[in-house]
Amino acid sequence: MPHLYGIMKVLVLGSGGREHALAWKISQSPLCSRLYVAPGNAGTHQCAQNVPIEVTNFDKLADFIAQNEIELVVVGPEAPLAAGWVDFLYQRFAPDQVRVIGPNQVAAQLESSKHFAKQFMQRHQIPTAAYRSFNLYSLQEGIDYLATLPPPYVLKADGLASGKGVLIINNLAEAQAALREMIVERKFGQASQTVVVEQFLQGIELSVFILTDGKDYLLLPAAKDYKRVGEGDTGPNTGGMGAVSPVPFADATFMQKVQERIIEPTLAGLRKEGIDYLGFIFFGLMNVAGDPYVIEYNVRLGDPETEVILPRIKSDLLALLDAASRRTLSHTSLEIDPRIAVTVMLTSEGYPGTFEKGKPINQIDKISTEVIAFHAGTALQNDFVVTAGGRVIALTALADTMQEALEKTYTAANIIHYHGKYYRRDIGQDLKKFGLF
Ligand code: AMP
Ligand code: GLY
Repeated sequence: MPHLYGIMKVLVLGSGGREHALAWKISQSPLCSRLYVAPGNAGTHQCAQNVPIEVTNFDKLADFIAQNEIELVVVGPEAPLAAGWVDFLYQRFAPDQVRVIGPNQVAAQLESSKHFAKQFMQRHQIPTAAYRSFNLYSLQEGIDYLATLPPPYVLKADGLASGKGVLIINNLAEAQAALREMIVERKFGQASQTVVVEQFLQGIELSVFILTDGKDYLLLPAAKDYKRVGEGDTGPNTGGMGAVSPVPFADATFMQKVQERIIEPTLAGLRKEGIDYLGFIFFGLMNVAGDPYVIEYNVRLGDPETEVILPRIKSDLLALLDAASRRTLSHTSLEIDPRIAVTVMLTSEGYPGTFEKGKPINQIDKISTEVIAFHAGTALQNDFVVTAGGRVIALTALADTMQEALEKTYTAANIIHYHGKYYRRDIGQDLKKFGLF
């Protein structure tokens, strides 16, 4: 049935760069009549109406959905999914009243429990690092197990720890001490009650995304994320300091392996286990000498990967989301911009540790119209845009060469000004050897 234009009321949940990118793209759709973001930021305010409700305040969100006749909810972050938002919504509303892009609580365990994800992969022969998991009762076994492994040692808190629950340690005694600290002293709180110890995978990482309606899927552009705070991939892990898309080492042969060995067995495994999955899946992969291994599943899009991949999608994203929510994704296709996209994240000095907020941001309006400024941690204070997070603004540019895309992005990064601005100057440099420049 063809759609009437401009008829859909949409709510995006979240407040980061990923959600600004989603709102920016959805707002371009002729299918969209009203767009809301809860709670949003100073950037989403430009293309949507912000709604001051937190993503975990289910009752208030449901009231808002009912009052405003929202038809489609697009969930940005994992927290509401892990807390059962989708299950809650379908208890309160009939499926013809509101549809949601995001998996239910059982399916969200692919991200919310590393132990669940690991067992799932094992059941379906999906390539991943060998592992065992330990808790207070098996701590000594864990300490002994570490001694049987070659270094470096990979220790992961089982639960959600905002990407910070992973330790990679070279020294055995230190790894054993860290295991004890995670389990006994709850270094990552409740999340490290159970700890997964796994084989170290040597390779280069990438992020692969699909949108699925439980039956079919669309393969979105892949991206490479820069996780460490410092240049040359040094210092602590962050949510992500920049990204590039496409990924030059993810060629057709590699991506075919990803589809055959990872994506399709994952979807088949979910179906076989009776787990209904509707939404995005983010496969965090390691390319080990040309073969893909799963490092982690996420049940959402990545941040800053969303800011680098959505500008490369030419198709109407809302039409695709609408089709997924109606389980008619097989009738759609995806048109991708072949150009190269680069995203550089402007952050607050001190991030991912402590940092100051509330710094006025100047000259955003002075950057080239060829560069998109996706707001991450920003807020409006008396109509002025100020910093409100560790990651502040994600700048994205597209060009025929990586060099050009980098030049445009870094020129803008230099123009925008606020106290304590920091960004990595080496995004994409490690890919020079692959010849995208
Ligand atoms: P995760 O939260 O599972 O994505 O882990 C955080 C980061 O730790 C990943 O992005 C990788 O860089 C690294 N990592 C995790 N697991 C492994 C592994 N088995 N081998 C090598 N590096 C890993
Ligand atoms: N950039 C990695 C993530 O969103 O988890």
